[in-house]
Amino acid sequence: MQQLWPSAVEDPQLIDLYRTPPGPWLRLNFVASLDGAGTVDGRSAPLSGPADKRVFGVLRMLCDALVVGAGTVRDEGYHALRLDADRRAWRVANGLAEYPTMVIVSKRLDLDPALDALADAPVRPIVLTRAGADPGKLAEVADLITVGDDQVDLRAGVAALRERGFAHLLSEGGPMLFGSLAAAGLVDELCLTVSPLLAGAGPGRIIGGPELPAPEHLTLRHVLYDDGLLFLRHAR
Ligand SMILES: NC(=O)c1ccc[n+]([C@@H]2O[C@H](COP(=O)([O-])OP(=O)(O)OC[C@H]3O[C@@H](n4cnc5c(N)ncnc54)[C@H](OP(=O)(O)O)[C@@H]3O)[C@@H](O)[C@H]2O)c1
Repeated sequence: MQQLWPSAVEDPQLIDLYRTPPGPWLRLNFVASLDGAGTVDGRSAPLSGPADKRVFGVLRMLCDALVVGAGTVRDEGYHALRLDADRRAWRVANGLAEYPTMVIVSKRLDLDPALDALADAPVRPIVLTRAGADPGKLAEVADLITVGDDQVDLRAGVAALRERGFAHLLSEGGPMLFGSLAAAGLVDELCLTVSPLLAGAGPGRIIGGPELPAPEHLTLRHVLYDDGLLFLRHAR
């Protein structure tokens, strides 16, 4: 039996708790209600809170690139990936680029180039797409990487990102991207915030898309608690 609470965790410890092994790593970060919902009224924000935002910020600070599905970028109105001055200084002091690069996965390329996440990005974002999709004006604001013919081939996409030097990838979903990454065997870790809410029937889970070939076991690395929220870290 281990005591989970109370035990204060300051930022430097939080960083250590969420460090990943050196080399290639792909971490997912999600929030869910007690009854397993990934959204309330179509957004994840009602499930979150200040403590979740703190972990969210630390995970962004630790990654080389943030990989997000186009559905989440559209539905959540993603902003450009900016970090505060302290976090940028931490990154540079720890051998990372000042900002992580945002990578958006889109098959149809139905993304407005004027979106804040693209047009206002501090570093040029990447869009992972498939052959035959028309980039239009997207090519003016993002680098396009084409992987796959009918679908975005995520294995090839992740390999292409690693070739560009992005070893530690963080994905904030959404559910369809999570399901596709998991089915492709690419997920090393899931950070799950459990929110003390019953969302009720209706909203989907944090995972969608293709089925897994078989259920996969992940090992619990830690449990944190803050202001009603539980933070679970599980990894291969
Ligand atoms: N609880 C949480 O932590 C959390 C986190 C993130 C999102 N959400 C919620 O999830 C909802 C969005 O869900 P979603 O499943 O539509 O979003 P998603 O996974 O972010 O995006 C799905 C889109 O990704 C693109 N895509 C291209 N190739 C893909 C591939 N091989 N595999 C998977 N996706 C590929 C497609 O974009 P195109 O349509 O452009 O081709 C597809 O429509 C929102 O309501 C959001 O609030 C919750």
